Amino acid sequence: MPGAIYAEGLVKTFGDVRALDGVDLDVPEGTVLGLLGPNGAGKTTTVRCLTTLLRPDSGRAVVAGLDVLRQPNEVRRSIGLSGQFAAVDEYLTGRENLQMVGQLYQMRARAAKVRAVELLEQFNLTDAADRPAKTYSGGMRRRLDLAAALVVSPPVMFMDEPTTGLDPRNRQMLWEVIKELVSGGTTLLLTTQYLEEADHLAHEIAVVDQGRVIARGTSDELKARTGGERVEVVVHDREHIPTASEVLRGFGKGDTTVEEHTRRLTVPVSGGAKLLAEVIRELDARGIEIDDIGLRRPTLDDVFLSLTGHMAESTDPDGGPGADARGRKPKTKEEAQ
Ligand SMILES: Nc1ncnc2c1ncn2[C@@H]1O[C@H](COP(=O)(O)OP(=O)(O)O)[C@@H](O)[C@H]1O
Ligand SMILES: [Mg+2]
Repeated sequence: MPGAIYAEGLVKTFGDVRALDGVDLDVPEGTVLGLLGPNGAGKTTTVRCLTTLLRPDSGRAVVAGLDVLRQPNEVRRSIGLSGQFAAVDEYLTGRENLQMVGQLYQMRARAAKVRAVELLEQFNLTDAADRPAKTYSGGMRRRLDLAAALVVSPPVMFMDEPTTGLDPRNRQMLWEVIKELVSGGTTLLLTTQYLEEADHLAHEIAVVDQGRVIARGTSDELKARTGGERVEVVVHDREHIPTASEVLRGFGKGDTTVEEHTRRLTVPVSGGAKLLAEVIRELDARGIEIDDIGLRRPTLDDVFLSLTGHMAESTDPDGGPGADARGRKPKTKEEAQ
């Protein structure tokens, strides 16, 4: 029996762009699937197809036991969606927005009011509850959008990059909300740029690249598949990055990853502590001062990089200048707020 979210061979083209090139998914009821992939991989398009906002060119999808193409209205009533394209009415206050959603879902006015108060509290919006949403900062708007998706607890939820633009405290809060939701039986498909988030929340992860699922499994399975240890070095001087990179290349079994802004270099190795000692000696011999060095097991970042190869550069139109090695943008003002 297919899971609460099921897709088979979803294809969607926009002119010459094949945004989805045969996406298959199967998410068991009551679990969280983390959809990971570089920008432009097709995550949002997948979410939009599954939530009836876009019609795929071909393929099949079943959500909450309903055929997405044949029963779009029923599907819409069974799902919650928050994401890059969600609707918050600019001219209504936060409170009114939430009450309106409740009423759209046929809640009684009084129940909708109570629910709005709860959510405003939970999402730290109580102080701003009676201001029009257009006066909200990006981070507040994001929280309102998420709260709106949670007014009713639908059996299946989709969240497209729910914590992008949230500060760490609110990200933590949302993670708690999500865990609670899922422990109540909700099935969730979540896209994220924060691999740590997928690691923390997702029962299973599907890595998407160029419109296809290129790997799936639990976080541990994917890490095990990536295999091997990493040597990670933080050099003291930015100017030493090229030389350190050369040294690591000599010891490594794969590509060296460089994170310029943290002066951190990482390379997959085999050889453990003995090799680590050799690396330290060689760096020392070249006069490279280091702030930190160590061996560590692969992270989900390593998995992602080794699978998609989008480590050093981003082919993504959204990545562009200012995006870091993983195509993530620097922190926005909202994140800092
Ligand atoms: N409405 C659209 N019109 C044209 N191209 C689109 C549209 N939506 C998405 N695309 C393209 O489809 C590809 C996948 O996009 P998207 O699903 O938004 O990726 P992701 O969410 O993984 O960053 C990208 O190349 C993007 O430019
Ligand atoms: Mg997207």
